[in-house]
Amino acid sequence: MKTTAISVNHLRKYGENMKIETYENDEAVSKRAAELVEAIITNHQQPVLGLATGSTPLGLYQRLIEKYQANQLSFENVITYNLDEYLGLAKTHPESYHAYMDKNLFSHVNINPKNIHMPDNDANRKQEIVDDYNQALAKHPIDLQILGIGENAHIGFNEPGTPFDQKTFIVELDEQTRQSNARFFDSIDEVPSEAITMGIKQIMAAKQIVLIATGDNKAEAIKKTIKGPVTEDVPASILKTHPNCIILLDKAAAKYV
Ligand code: F6R
Repeated sequence: MKTTAISVNHLRKYGENMKIETYENDEAVSKRAAELVEAIITNHQQPVLGLATGSTPLGLYQRLIEKYQANQLSFENVITYNLDEYLGLAKTHPESYHAYMDKNLFSHVNINPKNIHMPDNDANRKQEIVDDYNQALAKHPIDLQILGIGENAHIGFNEPGTPFDQKTFIVELDEQTRQSNARFFDSIDEVPSEAITMGIKQIMAAKQIVLIATGDNKAEAIKKTIKGPVTEDVPASILKTHPNCIILLDKAAAKYV
């Protein structure tokens, strides 16, 4: 497997600072993402990771589990914050992000459950769960934030139009987001219409950001993010103003850049 980057580009225009690395395929992207996470875990006494769910980081989590199983990585001191969670879905529901994280990472590694932070999703306590997550996030600055990207260029569940200075909030999901996430549910009617998400301000406060995008369906969002203006209509475009952001792409997602 080819794991070196096919190309590495820097955007360094008008205060932009973004590194774009393109790889042959999803597997090579996941390997690179795992190396970046591993570097943070080994170089910090109390590493703080921001985590995403969805299809994109599955290969990354699998590699981290393998490293742990091979005694090459310990999660003993790792603190995590997840980006988001559907509202009103039982945490035990297989498509809840609580269940996803348990199944795809937490239950396989030696992370201390006390160090795991996920937004609560009680639809009857909206203000409290928002306040609680803002408070939790204020405790530990995030060393490395992992992001996927929506087809509409959302990051976390910050849909187009979300103010860049937004902190944790309850969001009404875009129809496009519900459509694309319907693949995980029996029907679109079962996809929750609301979610709680970390805001763009908190994502941007991470010391380093690694956004991963793979597949054709992300090519347009990646083009707008990298080549277009910084605008709230394209939430991921703000990442160009972050001091330390790396975008990892496979060839399909890099089609237009
Ligand atoms: C998930 C999240 C979302 C996803 C995005 C891409 O926690 O915050 O922004 O990263 O919707 O999802 P996938 O990877 O399933 O294409």
